[in-house]
Amino acid sequence: MSGQIITLSRHIIEEERKHPQATGKFTDLMNDIAFAAKLISYNTNKAGLMDVLGETTNVNVQGEVVKKLDVFSQQTMVNALDHNGHTCVMASEEEEDIIPIPEEYPLGKYVVLFDPLDGSSNIDANVSVGTIFSIYSRITPEGRPGTEKDCLQRGREQICAGYVIYGSSTMLVYTTGNGVHGFTLDPSYGEFILSHPNIKIPKKGKIYSVNESNFDYWKQEVKNYIHYVKQIDPPTNRPMNSRYIGSMVADVHRNLLYGGIFLYPASDTAPNGKLRLGYEANPMAFIVEQAGGKATTGKQRILDVQPESIHQRVPLFLGSKEDVELLEEFISGKRK
Ligand code: AHG
Ligand code: MN
Ligand code: MN
Repeated sequence: MSGQIITLSRHIIEEERKHPQATGKFTDLMNDIAFAAKLISYNTNKAGLMDVLGETTNVNVQGEVVKKLDVFSQQTMVNALDHNGHTCVMASEEEEDIIPIPEEYPLGKYVVLFDPLDGSSNIDANVSVGTIFSIYSRITPEGRPGTEKDCLQRGREQICAGYVIYGSSTMLVYTTGNGVHGFTLDPSYGEFILSHPNIKIPKKGKIYSVNESNFDYWKQEVKNYIHYVKQIDPPTNRPMNSRYIGSMVADVHRNLLYGGIFLYPASDTAPNGKLRLGYEANPMAFIVEQAGGKATTGKQRILDVQPESIHQRVPLFLGSKEDVELLEEFISGKRK
């Protein structure tokens, strides 16, 4: 770079200019997401000083206790996206049904799925959390409210995916299928500035990230793989190093930069794993693939899975290409 500062808005405008049919609506949508991210960032940063830590008395659709910051983040995302005429329907981890656009507002052509606050069980301990979003073009006719069908498209149809990580700094990372770009929020003037252009995940990493307390519940193939990565064998760079935060955004972000594999396998108690296809696995899979990595259920590319419901769960393995390919060899039984 020639010392020129590139803001997120500028980057998106430059991306949109590459499409001659662009109307500017996508830029507006992304600016609204970035605005919501700044509000959530401000609140997570000030969490200890404001009355936003702790739990509400509610349990969400997933049966999980809802944190106050989950509610704030959910409302912030909805408020940012429901009135500007670029969205026709939304879906979120925190709402059982699809979220329609209120009648008084214009309808747009985009569909947005999101996890407003990922890793929220970590929030009271000051550990990194995030927001994940996934954008599609509607497939139902324009001019009418979007439907569940719009929200159940395969991940490979995403036109954009991104996450915001509220960590030692706040970063927004996104892809529109043209590489992965990371922006750091400059707190002094409140702009996301391009700090990590064209992120590429190392071909092979040193880190494996998994909640190993579930070991006894996993299928034998996954147990074999984890056993393998822990063996001592310097020529193949083993043992790998274990790092698990319990916020997928933070675990995947670290692995994207350092290289490695993230796993949330199926288990006896959770036959489809824990993570949600629409607003956790798909957006992260699109980003990781665009960075040169891979994302799989173990049997199928994540982005090819046909969603059947908006809160559907899926086993998830993603990260550095060679690490994921090795895992696939274990799952197919080629290695034991
Ligand atoms: P959320 O806070 O949005 O419900 O997501 C939590 C997810 C994900 O961030 C993380 O990878 C995983 O749950 C951790 O689950 P375990 O506690 O079972 O390891
Ligand atoms: Mn989540
Ligand atoms: Mn969440």
